[in-house]
Amino acid sequence: MNKFLVQGSRSLDGGIQIGGAKNSALKLMAASLLAEGLTSLSNVPDIADVAIMVELLEAMGVEVQRTGHRIDISVPHEIEPVAPYHLVERMRASISVLGPLLARIGRATVAMPGGDDFGSRPIDMHLQGLEQLGATFTHQHGDIQAQAKVLKGAEVFLEFPSVGATENLLMAAVLARGTTTIENAAREPEITDLANFLSQMGALIDGIGTSRLRVDGVERLEPISYEVIPDRIEAATYLCALAICGGELHLENARAEHMEMLLRKLEEMGMHISEGNGGVRGKVTERLKSADVSTLPYPGLATDYKPFLVAALSVASGAGMVTENIFAGRFRYVDELVRMGAEIKAEGRHAVVRGVERLSGAPVRAHDIRAGAALVIAGLGADGETIISDAHHVDRGYEDLAGKLSSVGAQVSRT
Ligand code: UD1
Repeated sequence: MNKFLVQGSRSLDGGIQIGGAKNSALKLMAASLLAEGLTSLSNVPDIADVAIMVELLEAMGVEVQRTGHRIDISVPHEIEPVAPYHLVERMRASISVLGPLLARIGRATVAMPGGDDFGSRPIDMHLQGLEQLGATFTHQHGDIQAQAKVLKGAEVFLEFPSVGATENLLMAAVLARGTTTIENAAREPEITDLANFLSQMGALIDGIGTSRLRVDGVERLEPISYEVIPDRIEAATYLCALAICGGELHLENARAEHMEMLLRKLEEMGMHISEGNGGVRGKVTERLKSADVSTLPYPGLATDYKPFLVAALSVASGAGMVTENIFAGRFRYVDELVRMGAEIKAEGRHAVVRGVERLSGAPVRAHDIRAGAALVIAGLGADGETIISDAHHVDRGYEDLAGKLSSVGAQVSRT
């Protein structure tokens, strides 16, 4: 059995501790390959994707020890530079070992990731950027064979501010000869976290947090101890649960500066938001109003927030137009919400959501991490019981979603 059982709830009250950011932790773990020796990461969430990244590092001959939320990564002199299909298939972020492996040992075999529930997910920008630094690629039997005798700094212009391509290029450039500039770089807080991590290891990076990163390559990097930033997407999940149920929540550790657009959107809908006590507090005293939502690269509204916002709009008063500008296929969960009585019409990149008073509990299926979490919080705004199957998708990105929601008064359990 692999399900969430959710009962409709009326009010959430209390505090929830926000864990470390999945999308940062995974990249810092990949970046640890850049330095021989012991890297220690703290505030690493206990989630399935981290376990897959541990497996991937171990498959390369790296020793990894997990103690609670801390991970000790001992990188040996010799690494086996292979990311096999059975791991890449389970987690696309495995592709982020490509840049570090090329930089550190000049070769890698990485399985080509396939599409996923967001639709097609190309990696052409990763490969083109790395080619500009001197890497060559051949495709064989589903694998990418990468080679680089030496990586040399170059000016790289990204067609789109891709998170993954920016990260791979940054991790390659730090050990390349000479200067690399990445123009139209993605600016997500997780990229800033990676850049800060690399800088502390001894990398020379200018323009951190901007769309123009300048990297002066260094000979070697040193392993360090580092704390992962809090997960803004996990925080967004609980804020949208509050939007649906009403009440008052304090999200401990959440950083308002990482999710300003989301907080503004929720305020526009009628949530009272305040910062302080090392976190973010939200309060909802009446049914929220609808709003239009349009996803954009950071600092715009993250595409990862969208399923939660659509769940919240499903029970808000009025209608809202939702536009997806990052992943064209990211509306699959809408059919599941419609099974629960939501009034949503989705076509192409757009959806119109007309809020209903209450959804109606139903059996539904999680197709990916965020869509699954959105169905769980939608279940809080439904009469009766919602059963969400394929809950393992949610475990990829959430540490104890059911426990955290239950601790503030929701009725959510995991079978
Ligand atoms: C990361 C996040 C994901 C988030 C996304 C956008 C991780 C593990 N995942 O994914 O949760 O939703 O950022 O904020 O950090 N593209 C190309 N060619 C490429 C690369 C990307 O066309 O080589 C396109 C993608 O198809 C998509 C857009 O660029 O349409 C953005 O993708 P990208 O920012 O790269 O997302 P990920 O790094 O895969």
